[in-house]
Amino acid sequence: MAKDWWKKSAEGIPSVKMELPGPESKRMHANTTKYFHGLSGQVKLFPIAFSEGHGITMTDVDGNRFLDFSSGIYVTSLGHCHPKVSEAISHWANRLMNAHDFTTPIKEKLVEKLADVLPGNLNAMQFYSDGTSAVEAGIRAARAISGKQEFISAFRDFHGKSGHAVSLAQMHRGDVHSYGPSRAPGFYMVPRPNPYRPHFKKTDGTIDTDGYIDFYREFILEGTVGNVAAFVLEPIQGWGGSIVPPDDFFPKLRKLCDEKGILLFADEVLAGMGRTGEWMAMNHWDVIPDIITFGKSFGNGFPVTAMIVKEEYAEALDKISASSSYGGNPMASAAALASIEVIEEEDILENVREVGAYFQRRMKTMMDNHPIIGDIKGKGFLLGMELVKDKSTKEPFAEAGTLVYQKAFQKGLAWIPAGNILRMSPPLIMDEKYASMGMDIIEESISEVEKDFGY
Ligand SMILES: Cc1ncc(COP(=O)(O)O)c(C=O)c1O
Repeated sequence: MAKDWWKKSAEGIPSVKMELPGPESKRMHANTTKYFHGLSGQVKLFPIAFSEGHGITMTDVDGNRFLDFSSGIYVTSLGHCHPKVSEAISHWANRLMNAHDFTTPIKEKLVEKLADVLPGNLNAMQFYSDGTSAVEAGIRAARAISGKQEFISAFRDFHGKSGHAVSLAQMHRGDVHSYGPSRAPGFYMVPRPNPYRPHFKKTDGTIDTDGYIDFYREFILEGTVGNVAAFVLEPIQGWGGSIVPPDDFFPKLRKLCDEKGILLFADEVLAGMGRTGEWMAMNHWDVIPDIITFGKSFGNGFPVTAMIVKEEYAEALDKISASSSYGGNPMASAAALASIEVIEEEDILENVREVGAYFQRRMKTMMDNHPIIGDIKGKGFLLGMELVKDKSTKEPFAEAGTLVYQKAFQKGLAWIPAGNILRMSPPLIMDEKYASMGMDIIEESISEVEKDFGY
């Protein structure tokens, strides 16, 4: 497969011929939302209807063509309808769609391949169909491995929407989470290091990683009943705004976990499978977690996810049955295997590192030139820019974030809103030409919004 399979369909993008949403989008959306409720901010703020996607482009039902800076929602990372992945799914769609958790030829290949690309002895695995179920399985695995019951997670992390996944995150944000009577018993949250807005600082004002670790040590003693199974964290916060911790954070957390006999569970659903230029985002810090989850990019659009533990914990997985209706079905296994093979065959990790470096340079220049860009964030193709009213006070500027999102969409950029932190998640196949095209659209939109607000 030629690496540039997507380039032809990208010619001429973006191409927006009307005020959006166009007439057919409006009609279709109105009809659909008579029945379908609870849409995300991404759709509410820009309600268009899509009918096609190919490579780095998406087309709406009025024929407008967009440059994709969302990958769906961090999902179609190898491009929409990657021919190898689509072909692999359709092969099994015509041969064997489901065989419960029986072994199939394609599952055999997938488990071997996944064990091969993961570091250390992360090679005992189960498959599920969404990130939330994989996280739930990770929680059950942590309990089965450790015999302990409590969990510590971090402010502004996100892990899904089931009971326990919700209990690992902020609960009162009505657009995402439940209004439970409370968090599930034994689930606690602590702050995690955000270099732009640190809770714990050194005397020179920079972030103090040790401050966080010391606080966790004290919290384990004072705030739990000493029965903590695992720390559950995103390596890089996705929904929280592409926030990367300081380089010494995970190595130090790993040490603390070892000291306290607590498992380290890295939820790589969003950040894993190449998005940051590594198979696992945790590879950036040479830290091997005890439990990881993959989702989103794992099947490049086909619903397939994984929960993986270290080999020495494999026995515990027998205590938490892997049986589910869809987990690891032949189509799912084929999608995941093809996606891993594409990452290797098309040197995707290298592309993410190279073009990711361009994104960082470009965002830095933008930050230097724009009064409302307070901070730039991210790694590889997991990117963020934080908008503030004033660089010295760092007051968040959510109204500007919404407007920039909408203006850029109107100019033909399909992407993701997130309050005052602009988030970019382009397909990992993208080259610098289109990366710069997308950043031009964002910069133009920021300039317009600055003008609107009198900067
Ligand atoms: C880090 C992380 N974990 C878990 C999930 C839940 O995945 P899903 O929406 O596939 O259930 C998400 C979804 O955004 C996520 O970002």
